[in-house]
Amino acid sequence: MTLPTIKSVRFHETPSLANLGSRLLVVVSDESDIEQKQLKSPELCSIDLELGGIVKELVDLGDFEGKWLQTTTTLGTRKNIATRVLLVGAGKKNDQQPARARQLGILVAEESQKLKINQVALVGASALCTDAALREQLAIGFQAGIFKYPNTNLSDEAKAQLETPAELTFVNRPKHGTFDAKKVEITAKAMDTCRLLQDGPANVVTPKYVSEHIAERARALGLHVQIWGAEKLREVGFNAMLAVGGGSIHEPQFVVIEYKPQSYKKTLALVGKGLTYDSGGYSMKPATGQIGMKYDMSGAAVSLSAALAIAELGLPVRVFGIAGLCENMVDANAYRVNDIVKTYSGKTIEILNTDAEGRVVLADALSYTAKDLKPDCIVEFSTLTGAMVVSLGHYGAGVFSFPDATLGKTLEAASEKSGEKIWLLPTWEEINDDIKGKMADINNIGATTGNAGSIVAAMFLKEFTGDVPYAHVDIAGVAADNMAIGYTRKTGSGYGVQLSIELARNLAEA
Ligand code: BES
Ligand code: ZN
Ligand code: ZN
Repeated sequence: MTLPTIKSVRFHETPSLANLGSRLLVVVSDESDIEQKQLKSPELCSIDLELGGIVKELVDLGDFEGKWLQTTTTLGTRKNIATRVLLVGAGKKNDQQPARARQLGILVAEESQKLKINQVALVGASALCTDAALREQLAIGFQAGIFKYPNTNLSDEAKAQLETPAELTFVNRPKHGTFDAKKVEITAKAMDTCRLLQDGPANVVTPKYVSEHIAERARALGLHVQIWGAEKLREVGFNAMLAVGGGSIHEPQFVVIEYKPQSYKKTLALVGKGLTYDSGGYSMKPATGQIGMKYDMSGAAVSLSAALAIAELGLPVRVFGIAGLCENMVDANAYRVNDIVKTYSGKTIEILNTDAEGRVVLADALSYTAKDLKPDCIVEFSTLTGAMVVSLGHYGAGVFSFPDATLGKTLEAASEKSGEKIWLLPTWEEINDDIKGKMADINNIGATTGNAGSIVAAMFLKEFTGDVPYAHVDIAGVAADNMAIGYTRKTGSGYGVQLSIELARNLAEA
């Protein structure tokens, strides 16, 4: 079960502009590199000199001030450095540097693809190019901008384009430090994997499609793989997952991949909600509400592809990548409102709404993780609540941290590095009353049905993680159609992959 082929990217570095022979040279400048139509930074002056004054000319004309994402028309150089030169503005320096570097990379990829140019070189006076960590994010952004899900309706020309790898060459002065190409390639590949799984339609990306693909990748890396289908799930008592997946012709899959390095101090469990489609079930979503519900497996795409990447990077931290994969459909075998389900933990859930299915699936996945795998912490990603989209829009994810804010703060530190916005939300105890069940231990939507929906959902999940430090990351707004800086629009975003990798790095150092 191999994922579709997508355009690949190769990264190179070179110390000088001489003999570059690139087809497109991109020059990146901050606003502060230019003042009153004058080149201010010595770095930009020296680049300009090497390019025969082309930058100065454009700046003189007032065509370029280095404003955020400003581009000039491309020009041919007078020297044999590149066929074309494009100036790109990096704007004002501010505190969102990793995301901005990525956004710039996306822009460069889009501009080069518009020109049908695959070989791009990049030089710059901006910190987004001179700082090694930011340059890595720029490279990841470039690959994200090149990414295109191979739709069946692509023209022959577009298909041929996908076959040709793109190349990005950084022109770096030695003082700028070398960037870690292996790290970039592994991270960018994990984001591609995540996005391919996200963007694939639900009639292709079924629970088995995900589990088989991930198993193939995990085995190639020598990881331990455990996949449970319906029969095994029945045997072990994953009745909650079986209830949600009951209405689908596609068998549910519970996936655990394990990366256990020779030496490690901490064990991290990454858990993901994997609804390959969420129709809502009998509490059905209206037509417009179903659009985009193929993305309801984004949490699983994140947890699994991030675990693969952490293994490939060889970080000294033990990691489990876990996913509860099923499809929420309507059928004679589907679960109903008022059904009572006994979860793997023994706790019973009264279903009050079949569309609040993610938390039901996660009940089994999380209690298995906490009880049987006993990690030091659990971080779980899910497109859990529409209420999250109302609160934070498509700009950032809401995080709920238990038993206190400690794990949430560690995630905040990771998010600073990865440039993926998160916001810590409250976990008020009073809300526990809302989910108390009348007929069972708990109900799945809360008695006040809908108010503070994201918090209610988080408090529900907390019931299944015991004493293990646990963070729930609600990515409903950012998994697709991400509007934050550092993302391509209108497709699966890969949000959370880098956050997980940075968290693993953090735990490896702890
Ligand atoms: N998958 C949805 C949440 C969602 C909505 C994700 C919009 C992305 C965009 C989830 O399963 C769901 O339907 N939740 C319900 C819960 C409600 C019934 C308590 C919701 O948010 O409406
Ligand atoms: Zn739902
Ligand atoms: Zn859902």
